[in-house]
Amino acid sequence: MIVIDKILSAEEVNTYREILANAPWNDGSKTAMGMAASVKNNNQADASNTHVRQLANQLLARIGETPKLVSAALPHKIFPPCFNRYSETEEYGYHVDAAVMRIPDTNEVIRSDISMTTFLSEPEEYEGGELIISTEFGQQAIKLPAGYAVVYPSSSLHKVTAVTKGQRVAAITWMQSMISESSIRQNLYQLDQTIQTLIQEGKTSRTELDNLHNVYHNLIRQFTQL
Ligand code: NI
Repeated sequence: MIVIDKILSAEEVNTYREILANAPWNDGSKTAMGMAASVKNNNQADASNTHVRQLANQLLARIGETPKLVSAALPHKIFPPCFNRYSETEEYGYHVDAAVMRIPDTNEVIRSDISMTTFLSEPEEYEGGELIISTEFGQQAIKLPAGYAVVYPSSSLHKVTAVTKGQRVAAITWMQSMISESSIRQNLYQLDQTIQTLIQEGKTSRTELDNLHNVYHNLIRQFTQL
């Protein structure tokens, strides 16, 4: 589970909020499948709306421009982000995200390896509405400042607790990683982050950095599934 600070600036968050406040919203349970639909009680911005689609495309592009996120997720395909809103009493009970999803209006399918939530409401704006992820170390409750995102394995059971006051707006998306196995992804992430730190510190020779870089790319070559 990795937190991405400020994937959207405060100014961008304001723009998103303004556009979404004026966008058409639908019942969120309509877009969930099978068992997830029965526990989903929220609203989703109409993805066919031009303004909503523009925001989704902008966030999609931002994912590819965020080095820490690319390093952690190694995305191959990304589902266009959806925007959801939880008002008072609304929640999304424990569920797993569908393993395979069709990208709307295309014949393309993606395998969901990684889920990402981008918070668009400040924590002070609502009570409840925590993203709870069930991990091998127990439950982790996540509530981040507006503009921050969390990525976590799509294979984990998770839920959004009921909002008891205010409103919680967020963007969600899923990624198919070039590396399906999360433990390998984690090791690659650690390796890349360490290389980046060494580069910034400027004390490691070019030859050593080249060697590390070579190892990193060879590992990606070895494990990538495209
Ligand atoms: Ni989910």
